Amino acid sequence: MDVIKISHLTKDYGDNKGVFDVSVTIKQGEVYVYLGPNGAGKSTTMRHLMGFSKPQKGTVTIFGMDAWTQQKEIQKRVGYLPGEIALPNDMTGLSYLKMIAKMRGMKDFSYATELLDYFEINPKAGIKRMSKGMKQKIAIVAAFMHKPDLLLLDEPTSGLDPLMQKKFIDLVERANKAGATVIMSSHIFEEVDKTCDRIGMIRQGKLIKELPVDELRHAQTKTFKVEFASAEALVGMKKAFPNATYRDSQNQVILDFKDSETNHVLAELSKYDVHFISEEKHTLEDYFMQFY
Ligand SMILES: Nc1ncnc2c1ncn2[C@@H]1O[C@H](COP(=O)(O)OP(=O)(O)O)[C@@H](O)[C@H]1O
Ligand SMILES: [Mg+2]
Repeated sequence: MDVIKISHLTKDYGDNKGVFDVSVTIKQGEVYVYLGPNGAGKSTTMRHLMGFSKPQKGTVTIFGMDAWTQQKEIQKRVGYLPGEIALPNDMTGLSYLKMIAKMRGMKDFSYATELLDYFEINPKAGIKRMSKGMKQKIAIVAAFMHKPDLLLLDEPTSGLDPLMQKKFIDLVERANKAGATVIMSSHIFEEVDKTCDRIGMIRQGKLIKELPVDELRHAQTKTFKVEFASAEALVGMKKAFPNATYRDSQNQVILDFKDSETNHVLAELSKYDVHFISEEKHTLEDYFMQFY
């Protein structure tokens, strides 16, 4: 079953800003990551999914209902974590969550209590005095506490420290295992690697590519820097890898290769005395460039 069906969605803010003719279909149980640089149109798309924005063109359907006209019904089954979190300053974390629970007609607050515990939140603390990360955690609890069928998470890990990021990703995985469909936006590729099934890449409001994450992982060329103990090694390496980049003065080579070429590379390297080897991280930009 398709949980989300975005069909030719367009929202034109002028100056090439907005979302243009985006179509995405997400199946029940999928974890879909909407990946793109700042300003690409991720939050705009998310707001249409929540029914906060009316499409200029196209349609957005969730659970078979129209996201704009049936937003009230849809929202009960959705957990939304906005990109920009704004919580009422005059409440405590607990009173805020209780208010949201009441609005949703939630009867059982036990999972919320469990989540407060999990994130080590002091529920009695006033929101006004909370750090950005703390507010983020409250917003996460609000998004997950009713065990929604669909999670819409807009750059969920951006304000979290590494430990919390891990806890958060574990929580997403747990929800997904229990059956929740997840759509999560991010501008950092490394962040999405573990959890997701499929990636949609958006840039300047256009969906430029969709692919299963496994495919992306294996299709990537990786880049390694290798430094040898002596200059002789470079002579042999240049014969084996004429297209690599060489830094003769440092006895270094920068090698790009695919997973399928790993054994060949290792066999060549093992002929020489290697000082060190390190992976050169690809930036998101590099990943995008491969699809132009
Ligand atoms: N209400 C709006 N009015 C005008 N421009 C907007 C509005 N909302 C977003 N934009 C612009 O549209 C582009 C996409 O924004 P957004 O969806 O927030 O991107 P992302 O979440 O990927 O960073 C940005 O250039 C942003 O400045
Ligand atoms: Mg955004």
